[in-house]
Amino acid sequence: MQREPHLSNAALMARRSAAVARGVGQAHEIFVSRAANAELWDVEGRRYIDFAGGIAVLNTGHCHPEISAAVKAQVDLYSHTCFQVVAYEPYVELAERLNALAPGAFAKKSIFLSTGAEAVENAVKIARAHTRRPGVIAFTGGYHGRTMMTLGLTGKVAPYKIGFGPFPGEVFHALYPNALHGVSVDDALHSVELLFKNDIEPERVAAFILEPVQGEGGFYVAPNDFIEGLRALADRHGILIIADEVQTGAGRTGTWFASEQWPVAPDLITTAKSMAGGFPISGVVGRAEVMDAPAPGGLGGTYAGSPIGCAAALAVLKVFDDEQLLARSRWGCRHR
Ligand SMILES: Cc1ncc(COP(=O)(O)O)c(C=O)c1O
Repeated sequence: MQREPHLSNAALMARRSAAVARGVGQAHEIFVSRAANAELWDVEGRRYIDFAGGIAVLNTGHCHPEISAAVKAQVDLYSHTCFQVVAYEPYVELAERLNALAPGAFAKKSIFLSTGAEAVENAVKIARAHTRRPGVIAFTGGYHGRTMMTLGLTGKVAPYKIGFGPFPGEVFHALYPNALHGVSVDDALHSVELLFKNDIEPERVAAFILEPVQGEGGFYVAPNDFIEGLRALADRHGILIIADEVQTGAGRTGTWFASEQWPVAPDLITTAKSMAGGFPISGVVGRAEVMDAPAPGGLGGTYAGSPIGCAAALAVLKVFDDEQLLARSRWGCRHR
């Protein structure tokens, strides 16, 4: 790969430091010039294997030709109408596909947004509208985004929350089970009971929200007996379970949704990141009667579920099917 003659990583870093606010961190001091599948090249012509994939966004690789072609075709047809103003079929098809993929033997509906944080915000809105309760219980070490509500839900102070409070109220944190750090499943479930005793009565809690596998908190899996215990608590008190699958969804754990591997289904699932191979779209999928709680006009957004994002997501689903990516991602598990 040819070096781009006018560009060096060091010179670009200097321009970046002068022009871009420092709060936007930078994991690697290189600038990309092009990328393909699992590789990228910097502006000095060096080739890298890309283990990051953005932040878990490229389960289908960089610039998959079918996804790029679907996006180009969509751009030539129409790129924006705002779904609430003039609707389009790819949004409906994507909803149908995700409704069919989400776990749980009940009717489902979906909405689409733009970012993972927006999906989490909307899942909380929907849960509150359905239960008519304010409280949300999240977990230590959880990460849910950078907007005010999602920062409130995030259970990790540095670097995400420092200097940005106050955060919205009625958010509480219980312990996420973590054998490595000495938190057993019983400890974690007991910490929920303690919140009911010390902080908020369960009748005022709308939802639990958790990642099936924590990402930013360290890669920790919620054990199945924890999920069963949480489901029992949720059912006893009329509380919903939101699986934040922004990072674990789209095949990251060998099934389309990680919660397909849970012994019991969540009520709502958030999805984003790899669902569209790098194009910005996110969604909430869940129980139809819960999803329908907000009145018409209560959900949506100018760019929410953009036609380009929908076209990309449908192409990602096709690539997963055609290339049997889920089965192939599990191959190593069977042969270990
Ligand atoms: C579990 C989880 N939820 C929410 C988010 C926020 O997504 P976004 O950065 O697209 O707003 C992330 C992003 O890393 C995430 O991993």
